Amino acid sequence: MADIELQSYYPDVTGIIQDTTHLFDAVVHFREIMMMYDCAAREIRTKFEVLNSDFSVRYNRNPIEVIKTRVKQPVSLFRKIKERGLPLDEDTLMHGIHDIAGVRVVCSFIDDIYRLARLIAGQDDITIVEIKDYIQHPKPNGYRSLHLIVQVPVFFADQTRDMTVEVQIRTMAMDFWASLDHELHYKKRADRNVNLEDVEKKLAQSAEIIAETDRRMQEIRSEIYGENGSSSDLRKDLLKDLKDL
Ligand code: GTP
Ligand code: MG
Repeated sequence: MADIELQSYYPDVTGIIQDTTHLFDAVVHFREIMMMYDCAAREIRTKFEVLNSDFSVRYNRNPIEVIKTRVKQPVSLFRKIKERGLPLDEDTLMHGIHDIAGVRVVCSFIDDIYRLARLIAGQDDITIVEIKDYIQHPKPNGYRSLHLIVQVPVFFADQTRDMTVEVQIRTMAMDFWASLDHELHYKKRADRNVNLEDVEKKLAQSAEIIAETDRRMQEIRSEIYGENGSSSDLRKDLLKDLKDL
């Protein structure tokens, strides 16, 4: 009797319950996909850790200072999907957005960025989908880093999936600049008293100073280790390898 009354007051009640069931399935599926991206980021992280260990035994030095991995937060992921006008479905999550899994590799020297990129690109299970060299071609605001979009197979309990990961490789100095730029990006938009043009000009100038310091540190290192060649040679080697792959 009570149920019938409820039905008459809320004629949509069964519809709502059905939607909730779909929502539950969708949430479980979403969590599964995020777990897959987390695993993909860890696979890539391990590859860089292996290279770092190999360098440390072979050449007695660590090219990598720190590796950071992250999976995009659902809120910023949904915002990006919405901004791009994409449907919120599995196809978009698996193929439409390339930076759900992110790995940031911070090196001491510019040369090591290209060395590491080349070693990763040459691995049999890695496919390079895209490469953006913001070191050779800095963004107008001064941002510098080498970006790779890579695909790596990940072996799960009942399937193997090619997962996409965004890799950012940069020096400590570039990382320092990017962190501050990121922080200011949010701060300066919220505060109307900030002279945006002035802040951006100063940031761009700082990026130049930082880049000059990176170049000098690289020169000093090359002198100490008696290395010939230059970052631009290493960059050419990387691009040549990618063409051959
Ligand atoms: P997104 O859709 O935002 O990922 O841009 P995109 O597809 O053009 O990729 P892009 O390679 O330019 O940038 C990807 C990522 O690099 C960003 O999510 C940031 O982490 C980083 N990045 C790019 N530009 C800047 C910048 O100007 N400042 C800082 N701090 N980070 C940047
Ligand atoms: Mg991004």
